[in-house]
Amino acid sequence: MIKYAILGFGTVGRGVAEVMAGQKEKLAAAAGEALELGYILVRRDMPDSPWKDRMVRDFSVIERDPDVAVVAEVIGGVGAAYDYSRRAILAGKSVVSSNKELVATHGLELAALAKEHGVSYLFEGSVGGGIPLLRPLCRCLAANRIDEVYGILNGTTNYILTAMDEKGQDFAQALRKAQELGYAEADPTADVEGIDACRKTAILADLSFGHNLDPADIPTTGITTVAAVDLELARTLGYTVKLLGRAKRTENGCLAFVQPHLVPLSHNLASVNGVMNACAIRGSAVGEVVLCGPGAGSHPTASAVSADIADAVRHRADPVVPDMGAPGGTVAAESALVSPWYVRADAAPEAVEALFSGVKPVYSTTGECGFITGPMDRLAAEKLLAGLDGRALWRVLA
Ligand SMILES: NC(=O)c1ccc[n+]([C@@H]2O[C@H](COP(=O)([O-])OP(=O)(O)OC[C@H]3O[C@@H](n4cnc5c(N)ncnc54)[C@H](OP(=O)(O)O)[C@@H]3O)[C@@H](O)[C@H]2O)c1
Repeated sequence: MIKYAILGFGTVGRGVAEVMAGQKEKLAAAAGEALELGYILVRRDMPDSPWKDRMVRDFSVIERDPDVAVVAEVIGGVGAAYDYSRRAILAGKSVVSSNKELVATHGLELAALAKEHGVSYLFEGSVGGGIPLLRPLCRCLAANRIDEVYGILNGTTNYILTAMDEKGQDFAQALRKAQELGYAEADPTADVEGIDACRKTAILADLSFGHNLDPADIPTTGITTVAAVDLELARTLGYTVKLLGRAKRTENGCLAFVQPHLVPLSHNLASVNGVMNACAIRGSAVGEVVLCGPGAGSHPTASAVSADIADAVRHRADPVVPDMGAPGGTVAAESALVSPWYVRADAAPEAVEALFSGVKPVYSTTGECGFITGPMDRLAAEKLLAGLDGRALWRVLA
């Protein structure tokens, strides 16, 4: 019997306790031995919880128990979560985590520490929630040079964009509804400004291209400037709008950015709606693989964290630590990437035709025009747009 501990008993922590209990035999078979929930680290009493007898407030109780082999960090943030993760590794315990902020900012250091101390550091739940994504990327696609990883990496923004598209709501209405349904936090900044998707993009890039990126270096634009009229124009043009995190191998190193994109209605990602997430991986041998599923939620995320716990126990003798890339990776300039562009402007068809020859604009019910340019880099698109009363300029996924 091997003990594990859960740090933090919120949405994901509760899910981990429930999923681990519900699939006890299957997880024991996966781990190669029986697993017992030894401790739950909390910072307030929960007298009604069925696990109240496992709850402790002092991390050193967990740290000092030699029978605890794995610690699941599901606290979030980079304060206590970072401190406890380090201390657990130093105490010879494997750490599994769903905390993308911590993995994106300190993952390289924690992975190196885990290697040094002969324990596993796993974080499948940190990107794509319940979607098996990082293991397929690192292991099943090990025979590929990964050329690009891109996807819908945040359920809150995808819910909002879907509501704007399907119900014609504006951003503020769709956000309010997402908050009512519990899909968006009271402070939605990390989601709607693209910060959450940026952290996940950094992790995907680290694992794909061999360079460890600082999320602060990844150009990030959220969805706060997406207007209902953009969804209307996009649909008329045969597209929908999605917030994409993209990381791409280029001749000048790795390119990574988070931006709203127009996605053709025929593309796999166009039908990924509501809180669902999806990630496409382009590999040199396999071509394009798309993985889709619930990107968040208590049990979906716990599905990933619980499998990591079992895997860490299974690999006690040969620990697993994903390669987070070499330190100091730089992000190539996003502006140089050539793509078609979506433009929204207040312009007559002749004005558009004069600047973008052969381009046919469509018009919204409010009289604004939208059109798709040919492929060009950002500077060229901005230069051409300067001749119009341009109001939106986004990449089109080609
Ligand atoms: N929710 C999801 O669907 C989801 C999906 C994928 C990844 N994640 C990630 O998983 C992590 C956890 O998310 P969550 O949604 O479960 O968050 P949450 O519901 O806010 O739960 C976090 C829990 O950690 C507790 N906590 C905070 N500081 C602590 C400390 N110093 N010691 C002990 N407990 C402490 C909090 O206690 P109090 O209750 O006292 O505040 C809270 O119960 C985050 O990194 C998040 O980004 C979440």
